[in-house]
Amino acid sequence: MFSSNLLTGIKSTGRPHLGHVIGIIYPTILLLNKELFNNKLILIANLHTLTNYNFMTTNKTNSYQILAAWLACGLDYNKVICYRQSDIPESTELLWFFSTLFPYNRLKLVHSFKEYKRNNKRINTATLTYPLLMAADILISQAELIVVGKDQLQHLEIARKIAKTINKRQRIFTLPKVKILTNLIKGTDGQKMSKSKNNLIDIFSNKKQIKQQIGQIKTQNQFLTEDNNFLKDNLYNIYINFAGSQQINKNLNVGYQHAKAELYSLLLRTFKKERHLYKSYIKQTSKLDKIFQVGATKMKEIIQPTMKKVRKLFDCY
Ligand code: TRP
Repeated sequence: MFSSNLLTGIKSTGRPHLGHVIGIIYPTILLLNKELFNNKLILIANLHTLTNYNFMTTNKTNSYQILAAWLACGLDYNKVICYRQSDIPESTELLWFFSTLFPYNRLKLVHSFKEYKRNNKRINTATLTYPLLMAADILISQAELIVVGKDQLQHLEIARKIAKTINKRQRIFTLPKVKILTNLIKGTDGQKMSKSKNNLIDIFSNKKQIKQQIGQIKTQNQFLTEDNNFLKDNLYNIYINFAGSQQINKNLNVGYQHAKAELYSLLLRTFKKERHLYKSYIKQTSKLDKIFQVGATKMKEIIQPTMKKVRKLFDCY
């Protein structure tokens, strides 16, 4: 057993979709089963969610949905620490300390912020400081390995930069390494699957909705043949994640309608157990509350020595 911690986090924007399940939840569970880590930390980033006002009244439910999905996919909550960002207010305290050191102009240049600015008129301060709160989540945990999707790479670099800046004065933080998950599933429109783009497949929703979402997958609208370069086809890109090569070969030369019907039944078969478990967990809110409570208590212990040093460094103790 190593003495290092592993951390991953998901923003609580609602029921996790296929992209979360395939892209983060399953690969992380595989990694966790390897037992290489001392503390395995699963963060539900419910403060990051609040950069979007729409989630103000559904935040609690959304956090339950993320936890229920982790459990439905087989996460053993006795072997990990599941906690909500808002239960560790020390992270926001740390964000403040970081914001005193980090240049404002560099935050304005972060890709995720620039993209947000391109697509939105009203931009709150939290959207700008988002990477600093993420750096706080990461550094407060003293995790050595951070599991994220590719789009989070720049945020990780910022966390490393802050760690180095502070460590030059006093060695407080573990320099985090990143484990990039590459099994990214594209959304029904071919872009990154995300709630805000309305292009998701929600395997925990009802069958009718799943069928509708699959119906929305944009295809090349032709027969799928090898010479047609089917790998570029969005439908097959999603399909390929679940079907073995035999099944794929069998389905070459079929029309996209047929392939959509195949994908639908394949998804229902693949996630039968998960869908069933999700329905059961999401009703057990007192059990979910208890898991969060235990998680927060354990996390508080982990972070105290770090916070003590940080407060001392800033002469605030
Ligand atoms: N920003 C991440 C995302 O949108 C979520 C997140 C917040 C996170 N804090 C983190 C991920 C700390 C890993 C570690 O996906």
